[in-house]
Amino acid sequence: MKLVMLGAPGAGKGTQAKRIAAKYQIPHISTGDIFRANIKAGTELGMKAKSYMDQGQLVPDEVTIGMLLDRISQDDCAGGYVLDGFPRTIPQAESLTKALASRGEKLDYAVNVDVPDENIVTRMSGRRACLGCGATYHIVYNAPKKEGICDVCGEKLVLRDDDKPETVQKRLAVYHDQTQPLIDYYKQEGILAEVDGTQDMDKVFQDIVKILG
Ligand code: AP5
Ligand code: MG
Repeated sequence: MKLVMLGAPGAGKGTQAKRIAAKYQIPHISTGDIFRANIKAGTELGMKAKSYMDQGQLVPDEVTIGMLLDRISQDDCAGGYVLDGFPRTIPQAESLTKALASRGEKLDYAVNVDVPDENIVTRMSGRRACLGCGATYHIVYNAPKKEGICDVCGEKLVLRDDDKPETVQKRLAVYHDQTQPLIDYYKQEGILAEVDGTQDMDKVFQDIVKILG
């Protein structure tokens, strides 16, 4: 199964993509996580991405598209994958459709996790992220067992640099401008599925599983 997760920053794409990956035994590929891993490792790609991410801007398509297409051509992706945070622009979506079509493949679903802007800022200020393994927590809705420490790998949890309220507002504006048009793009492709992302995490996941089967 090949699917993409759509939704505003903080809608819960990462939260749900991890559960989907575990249930359907497919890799979870988050372009944001790949960029953050590169920033942590101090690579050239990481340095380039950081300057955009810290301002709430998108990393340019010429950097992002090649990186993602390389990743999905690796062996572990042969049985499918769940993409989280890609595509984020119409050119990214078109490149993905084209690359898949050239191998006689196509996406099965685009799942839009719908959450209004009002809910997003509160969610983001409570989020804590593990830069070691990519796990995500929330200080109220999904707290780690030990405060400030990742349950999975034991690393320290951080507030992401781009989760400051003013950067979140910028990311929301960029989302509405550049990413929201993908909802119509995938509706036209006939693979759009919508879920109400304001429900609790378990209920959102149940709704997704009903769609994916
Ligand atoms: P990325 O890392 O993808 O960030 P994002 O899209 O802004 O999304 P988030 O990761 O912030 O939110 P999420 O939807 O995954 O929510 P989560 O599950 O964590 O990208 C970061 C940056 O990288 C971009 O701004 C851009 O610069 C760059 N980038 C990445 N991909 C790119 C691309 N393709 N092209 C160009 N640039 C790119 O949940 C949020 C919080 O809410 C958590 O604390 C969680 O515990 C909590 N929560 C989740 N679900 C619920 C629920 N149902 N109820 C209550 N709380 C919940
Ligand atoms: Mg995420």
